Amino acid sequence: MTRYTVAVLPGDGIGPEVTAEAVRALRAAADLHGFGIDTLEYPVGAAGVAAAGDSLPADTAVGVTQADAVLLGAVGHPSLAAAEGRRRPEAGLLALRKLLRVFANLRPVAVHPSLRHASPLRGDRLEGVDLLIVRELLGGLYYGLPRGRDGDAAVNTLRYTVPEIERVARVAFEAARRRRRSVTSVDKANVLEVSQLWRETVTRVGAGYPDVRLEHLYVDYAAMRLVANPSAIDVLLTENLFGDILSDEAAVLSGSLGLLPSASVGDGPGLFEPVHGSAPDIAGRGTANPLGAIASAAMLLRYGLGQADAADAVDLAVADVLAGGVRTPDIAGPGEPTLGTREVGERVARAVLGGRRRVEV
Ligand code: NAD
Ligand code: IPM
Ligand code: MN
Repeated sequence: MTRYTVAVLPGDGIGPEVTAEAVRALRAAADLHGFGIDTLEYPVGAAGVAAAGDSLPADTAVGVTQADAVLLGAVGHPSLAAAEGRRRPEAGLLALRKLLRVFANLRPVAVHPSLRHASPLRGDRLEGVDLLIVRELLGGLYYGLPRGRDGDAAVNTLRYTVPEIERVARVAFEAARRRRRSVTSVDKANVLEVSQLWRETVTRVGAGYPDVRLEHLYVDYAAMRLVANPSAIDVLLTENLFGDILSDEAAVLSGSLGLLPSASVGDGPGLFEPVHGSAPDIAGRGTANPLGAIASAAMLLRYGLGQADAADAVDLAVADVLAGGVRTPDIAGPGEPTLGTREVGERVARAVLGGRRRVEV
């Protein structure tokens, strides 16, 4: 039997709560499709600081590089919001992305028909929404040097090289070829040198994909278009910070930040994590929506392990439970009953295994 090793980094806040349900879904899909998954758990973020004084402890760094894929919950704790260096939970996540060399972050956004009520946007705006944000993940202001304090000033550096732009652009164009053949590249080329290089480079890469339509938008207008006419966007390609901001905005289309998954890919083990954070405001209550983490597990199966059928089983199970009215509080309509994180995870796992019964009949 094929066996995979998945490094599981639950992290902080609601991270452990939603990750447990993602692992439950992974196991159900592996059972259904006849392969094995060995999970090895490691601390990251504030949990890493508590365990080893480092948001990316050395044992975690070794464990992730030896795994076939990495599943992460979320990092961040209010008590460490002003911590310095590697005691900052978010620094551990950035170091982890760098260590794994995951330069492209894929964030799909769709609207489940039964969740139209959960978005503040008008229903007709949500019709046909199916987009993929391709966010550059290892460059830009997040990593640029110099950075730091300088007397009464502070500095971050926005820097991109041509190869960094080319490799993520290729991911976006390849993805568009498997979708609706359209790339919307988002930049601020009317102001920033870096964005001018971004636009030139994306245009040049795009010339190699004559079957894919390419448009360029300035980020301010893109932010508006994302809510005004989201169904017109297929693949949205952008740099690190713009992608971070636009993906939380896009969550408004789906109905909750708790629904969105992501896959970060490069040339080694992929990193799979929901788009949301540690949600300290609801942590510990067992009410967090686990579906973004579970859908990230589906992306892990698809892109991390190459198990597309198992991934489909998880995606279908998520769609089934939503169609059946299974709701955490963040996506419940007026008067709809709600379930807790674990109950929702159990329903998904049961729906995954239910697929087996249908096949066996
Ligand atoms: P957040 O995503 O944690 O929460 C924003 C809002 O969305 C909160 O009201 C929260 O309750 C809600 N929410 C998020 N996930 C949910 C879920 N699964 N189910 C139901 N509701 C959900 O963002 P924030 O509050 O700005 O940040 C909190 C901490 O998380 C910070 O330390 C931040 O740095 C960190 N963070 C980490 C990641 C990550 O690990 N990838 C991502 C974003 C933020
Ligand atoms: C995300 C988060 C992270 C980011 C933070 C926690 C470093 O917001 O994954 O979207 O900005 O990339
Ligand atoms: Mn973010």
